[in-house]
Amino acid sequence: MKTVVITGSARGLGFNMAKFFRVYNFNVVISDLKEENLIKAKEELSKESSEGMVDYHVCDVSKYSDQKTLMEYATQKFEKVDIWINNAGVNQPQKAIWELDENEINTIIDVDLKGTIYGCKVAMEEMSKNHEGAIYNVEGYGSNDAHMLGLNVYGTSKRAVTYFTESLAQEAEQRNTGVIVGKLSPGIMITDFTTHSLVNDDINLSEKTKKVYNILGDTPETVGKFLVDNIIKNTKNNAKINWLTNRKAFFRFLTAGFNKRDFFANEKSLPLDTEENKK
Ligand SMILES: NC(=O)c1ccc[n+]([C@@H]2O[C@H](COP(=O)([O-])OP(=O)(O)OC[C@H]3O[C@@H](n4cnc5c(N)ncnc54)[C@H](O)[C@@H]3O)[C@@H](O)[C@H]2O)c1
Repeated sequence: MKTVVITGSARGLGFNMAKFFRVYNFNVVISDLKEENLIKAKEELSKESSEGMVDYHVCDVSKYSDQKTLMEYATQKFEKVDIWINNAGVNQPQKAIWELDENEINTIIDVDLKGTIYGCKVAMEEMSKNHEGAIYNVEGYGSNDAHMLGLNVYGTSKRAVTYFTESLAQEAEQRNTGVIVGKLSPGIMITDFTTHSLVNDDINLSEKTKKVYNILGDTPETVGKFLVDNIIKNTKNNAKINWLTNRKAFFRFLTAGFNKRDFFANEKSLPLDTEENKK
């Protein structure tokens, strides 16, 4: 039975990837900042399969020692980790760089960029000993060099995550580690991340942005299933598993007139995994 560790997985995309790994009978170790959220998530995930196990461990990805302990915990419990996913992330308040305070800047870089680098170091150290394993990093706005006011530091982090992941994939091959490294590109998902920045600041999305999100956005459940299906199939180093391809985005805009999805109809109960929204 294979084991996956996912950071930032008490909710959102991380939780939904955990859910589909459970459906495929993986042992899953979820991790996040708050134990109470992990206990709730574990309870829900335990219902998905009677095979394999779900366990949790509190881990702040911005602390290297936490990530090291997470790996130690997972390997003690399940012998080895087959897949490690650096998913934890925070969004930026919609402010220009000079309007952000020092703490906001540090949090975005520490979680989104350094958290990913630490996770890769910890995973690579362990997996290269076994000469097998797979590490995936989650891309985001800016990974493809797009620019937008209010997403400068987040975009810088995600652009760097992409560069870092490609470099790590090269290093893994050059050192003959037996470990593969890849990128997950989830497109736009309607999660707490989309509506809140950092830990709890509300983001006031304009009507125009909501319209675009209703066309291009998806639930984390839909995206999580797609990513997990493709992670399980993938054997190539330096793969990019991409949900919102240019072709899909073009088709969505083309058919937008027939699109009745409204992720924001009842914003208090996000994420809105209704049948209508999944179409
Ligand atoms: N939602 C989107 O539209 C979108 C688009 C592209 C990429 N992403 C990326 O997908 C990933 C998941 O996003 P999501 O939409 O599920 O967000 P989310 O806010 O729903 O979930 C993120 C999780 O990370 C956790 N987290 C935050 N700081 C942490 C820390 N220091 N240590 C450990 N956990 C921490 C949060 O508690 C939360 O459970 C992120 O890397 C994000 O950048 C999201």
